[in-house]
Amino acid sequence: MPRDDATLETQLSDQEYVRPPTQFVGQANATDPGIYDRFEATYPDCFEEFAALLDWDDHWDEVLDDSNPPFYEWFKGGSLNASVNCIDRHLEDRKNQTAFVWEGENGDSERIAYQDLYRRVNEMAAVLESVEVAEDDVVTVHLPMIPALPVTMLACARIGAPHSVVFAGFSAQALADRLDDAASDVLVTVDGYYRRGEKLDHKATCDEALDLAETDPETVLLFNRDEALDDSVTIESDDPYVLVEDCLADCAGREVDPVSRDAEDPLFVMYTSGTTGEPKGCQHRTGGYLAHVAWTAKHVLDVKPDDTYWCTADIGWITGHSYIVYGPLALGTTSVMYEGPPDHPHKAISWELCERYDVDIFHTSPTAVRMFMKWGADHLDPYDVDVRHLTTVGEPIQPEAWQWYAEHVGGGDAVVVDTWWQTETGGHMITNLPAIQDMKPGSAGHAVPGVQPTIYDGAGDPVDPASDTAGNLVIERPWPGMLQTVYGDDDRFVSEYWATFSETDSDDPDDWVYKAGDGAVQASDGYFRILGRLDDVMNVAGHRIGTMELESAATTVADVAEAAVTARDDPQKGSVPDVYVVPRAECADPSAIPEAVVEAIESEIGSFARPGNVIVCDALPKTRSGKIMRRLLEDISNGESLGDTTTLRDPSVPEQIRTHVQES
Ligand code: WT7
Repeated sequence: MPRDDATLETQLSDQEYVRPPTQFVGQANATDPGIYDRFEATYPDCFEEFAALLDWDDHWDEVLDDSNPPFYEWFKGGSLNASVNCIDRHLEDRKNQTAFVWEGENGDSERIAYQDLYRRVNEMAAVLESVEVAEDDVVTVHLPMIPALPVTMLACARIGAPHSVVFAGFSAQALADRLDDAASDVLVTVDGYYRRGEKLDHKATCDEALDLAETDPETVLLFNRDEALDDSVTIESDDPYVLVEDCLADCAGREVDPVSRDAEDPLFVMYTSGTTGEPKGCQHRTGGYLAHVAWTAKHVLDVKPDDTYWCTADIGWITGHSYIVYGPLALGTTSVMYEGPPDHPHKAISWELCERYDVDIFHTSPTAVRMFMKWGADHLDPYDVDVRHLTTVGEPIQPEAWQWYAEHVGGGDAVVVDTWWQTETGGHMITNLPAIQDMKPGSAGHAVPGVQPTIYDGAGDPVDPASDTAGNLVIERPWPGMLQTVYGDDDRFVSEYWATFSETDSDDPDDWVYKAGDGAVQASDGYFRILGRLDDVMNVAGHRIGTMELESAATTVADVAEAAVTARDDPQKGSVPDVYVVPRAECADPSAIPEAVVEAIESEIGSFARPGNVIVCDALPKTRSGKIMRRLLEDISNGESLGDTTTLRDPSVPEQIRTHVQES
């Protein structure tokens, strides 16, 4: 029985907790409340329950080797292949079951059964081998939401070549940087694709990236999106391009033996923004990562083989890697993949697809929920949406948005699960097991069993547990899905994530603590609430962008002498970047700067990082030692009072800037 709105509202205002619907509890994968104590009592062996969900070629000898922190090793001595776990092992029972239903933006659609996926992945693995990709070569993949993307990832996994997927919305420069960092010999891309009805020439981005990159890939494998694009996109095979279609013709029906990978062998690299201008390649291992995402997909997302599951993320980000490709496929479920955005061809496309494919589990971002809310519940009315599980990820969700999601998408009888994690953590870290714990809208909830989040104060000491004290969110013990290192840069791995709160000269794992970069608070009931980034990283519509990356993009404009970027609160996107720029003395026309800065950011990073405002000012607020006070700018952006400005070199600067902001 759907609960009526009044009940939900009372639950929210009176006790702040929302109990999981009885029908959900009755069928959930995780129902034993004793799991937390059991995991606590048996750490790290508890994580054998994660690994037990996979098929291993060799069983591990040791669950965790922590003798060389923070270079932990999980399921040491074990070996397995990720593509076998995601495909081959399902064939005996369910080869005709759909693995992906794909909907193209232009109305194309495809149903890919596990047997089809097996064939495509094997053929693509043969193509990769034919262009001499060997085990451990990093293959860079720049593909949009088309079946070729998961197929290519799994083909890489089959032959033991780590993939580095670069989100299709990244610019040529961003692709070039990632290509260079990974020194990939092979790049996989597509001639074009559709976005809001437009035909995008993706090969042109690739051409430009090849010009910009220092690395000279020997081969660029070019998929063909469809024939309708042929007139607007060049698809000739010219050096280093090789048409995938031609190779596939030679590889038709080929089967490629899966490489048995050591549990610690890398499965992929995923670049993410950090506190410097250079993105970091988070390197994920095969065994621990796959075990973590499979277990959490099963117990947090409640995925079952017979379900139809839809996660609206792009596979080019970590959410798509973990919870579209590896987790759900390891469990042998059916997933929906949609090429387009949620407002194209119309604002009810999400609900139309939920009805058409009878989606049971729907997973999206708070930004999307706020957008759905703004568009109105009327859009849902014509469709029969019958989901039992709703998930959010990427940003805090406000209780109002949570409630709207529960009522209008969930119909009052679905659970709504907030999941906190990061590119670095591989999979869920703080989230409730939905049949076991009540939800508290606005709070991510409890730690995943076995995971140990703690709040540290500025001095690096733990605050009292459950003391409602805000501080730095850290993870005190290693977990299976954790990143292995920063690709090619162990020192950076240590300095970015561990150095702040660890004793770096110690080899006692108790002295090592992972810094998440987020602020958080643990309430007296034990629920964690995430407050947002504490470092120079911002979260724009669930996409993570480094302020340093934006600033260095802005200063590529010749007329810009200096730039500072702040996050302005935005009701829709959570936050948007504001860019404050100081023109060079010789600049003839400062009024042309804002447009040039927007263009520079779009071409250096991508249009998803487009700034909200570009404010031209005479000077930036600086301390006497010359440090830009970004906090002050952030207060100006958000129209807040400025507090103490006495440490400024020139205390009149903030007021001057405020005038510019009001003018812009
Ligand atoms: C950052 C990680 C994890 C997949 C998507 C983003 C923020 C993530 C939540 C949440 C509040 C959240 C944090 C985190 N974040 N989930 N449920 N509540 N904030 O991955 O790009 O690596 O970004 O996203 O700030 O550090 P990512």
